[in-house]
Amino acid sequence: MSEKHVNPDLVNPELESQFDTVLVVDFGAQYAQLIARRVREAHVYSEIVPHTITAAEIVEHSPAGVIFSGGPKSVHVPNAPLIDPEVYDTGVPVLGICYGAQLMSLQRGGEVANTGRGEYGKTDLAVLGDGGVLLRSDQPRFQSVWMSHFDSITKPPEGARVLATTPDVPAAAFEDHGRKLYGVQFHPEVAHTPYGQEILKHFLYDACGCRPTWTMTSIIEEQVHAVREQVGSGRAICGLSGGVDSAVAAALVHKAIGPQLTCVFVDTGLMRSGEGEQVVETFRRNFGIELLHVRAADRFFDRLEGIVDPEEKRKAIGELFIRVFEDSSGGIDDARFLVQGTLYPDVIESGGGAADTIKSHHNVGGLPEDIEFELVEPLRWLFKDEVRRVGEELGLPEEIVWRQPFPGPGLGVRIIGEVTPEKVATLQHADAIVREEIKKAGLEREIWQAFAVLPDIRSVGVMGDERTYAHPIIIRAVTSEDAMTADWARLPYDLLERMSSRIINEVAGVNRVAYDITSKPPGTIEWE
Ligand code: XMP
Repeated sequence: MSEKHVNPDLVNPELESQFDTVLVVDFGAQYAQLIARRVREAHVYSEIVPHTITAAEIVEHSPAGVIFSGGPKSVHVPNAPLIDPEVYDTGVPVLGICYGAQLMSLQRGGEVANTGRGEYGKTDLAVLGDGGVLLRSDQPRFQSVWMSHFDSITKPPEGARVLATTPDVPAAAFEDHGRKLYGVQFHPEVAHTPYGQEILKHFLYDACGCRPTWTMTSIIEEQVHAVREQVGSGRAICGLSGGVDSAVAAALVHKAIGPQLTCVFVDTGLMRSGEGEQVVETFRRNFGIELLHVRAADRFFDRLEGIVDPEEKRKAIGELFIRVFEDSSGGIDDARFLVQGTLYPDVIESGGGAADTIKSHHNVGGLPEDIEFELVEPLRWLFKDEVRRVGEELGLPEEIVWRQPFPGPGLGVRIIGEVTPEKVATLQHADAIVREEIKKAGLEREIWQAFAVLPDIRSVGVMGDERTYAHPIIIRAVTSEDAMTADWARLPYDLLERMSSRIINEVAGVNRVAYDITSKPPGTIEWE
């Protein structure tokens, strides 16, 4: 048997057989996920595969099309990521984007020059002739596109014709319709390319002949079926964290197996203020299902004593979480299945894709190896925006579907250094103020996440006539589309001031407030 290059965790033969599928080849940056999401927004199922995939392996998936993502490297550096050139002879339509288009050009007899004239940001694209399949007549002849490249395609692949140019790139879009090879030097997947989604749709519908069947209704149907198949007449338990992912996972599984599901809410002591009660109240009322409320804060605090390393902390929380489940399944000790709200990006970020392991996500990498449950992961193939739409479709209340993301390990990863009950209380209080003020300012939906972080340092201050030596609180507020990238939110100064003075006046043991102005990358959203 030859070596397999595709992580089986990232591809789903069932979905491939039911939906027209496009494989997005990841050339090592995070562009691939955005492309995959855009493809799905066009109602076509997509999967992410590494660039080491062979042509034969691609054919095994019977994709309707393949898209090469952009990448951070130049095609001219010695270890530039390549692709099996036989892919061009499989007859499967291929669209190269940025690096992907350059690679295709290079591998097919075109030329990519290091002209010394890179392009970054918005550029004017001029469409030539009929614009081909990608830029046909329904597209403006002149349009703005987003560029981010240094090398430049000076000659398209042998046999391809140029469809558009920009001031610096002679072959900004090209096609060889006969061989079904297409390329764009710009990024159609980003919002800064206003007609980008249309261009992708032309590739999907006109070049690949995809049918737009990937809808939330069909996903729900498919997953309800898959969960029934997997669980049979068995019993499943689902941990509710209060977050949207576990809530939607529970609702979906409940739709599939009804009373065979019991929800368990493990109160780790690491939740936000008031959240535990809210979770219990909402799920008992909305689902009318049995819900066990397990108060396990003491066990978590004991386990976390002395742990300062972020990865160790994440693993410890993830592991104990499962143990508490096992221990607390008294009335449901016949449960063999554990429902988890793992998402497709969690799997990719945990090392499934070409991108490095960024953090071991609580619900993936943190699992102990001797886990006693079989996992049911009905959202494993979905992106966050899809999960929200599934949640709405399932009739979950808005406040749950649109709740800000909250990490599995909870406040544990927002307390830098050792986690103690006192620090959690301090952080909960400060965090409640941050969220309350954001809500009052009407910024809840605009802000992706806003929260407080408690670092393991102290600084000197003065309050009244007293010298203080206490902890600072860091406010983190970001805007983002998908958490893959994020920008620090430009919160109004008066809002920041209100948060700051309220935190210092109301939260004991805090004498300073700082605002985190780091975007992602290079930072991450969470501090650990
Ligand atoms: P980072 O910090 O990696 O976070 O930029 C990206 C998004 O993921 C959330 N996050 C988690 N979600 N389990 C989760 O379910 C986790 O272990 C976890 N860690 C981070 C984070 O809040 C942000 O929305």
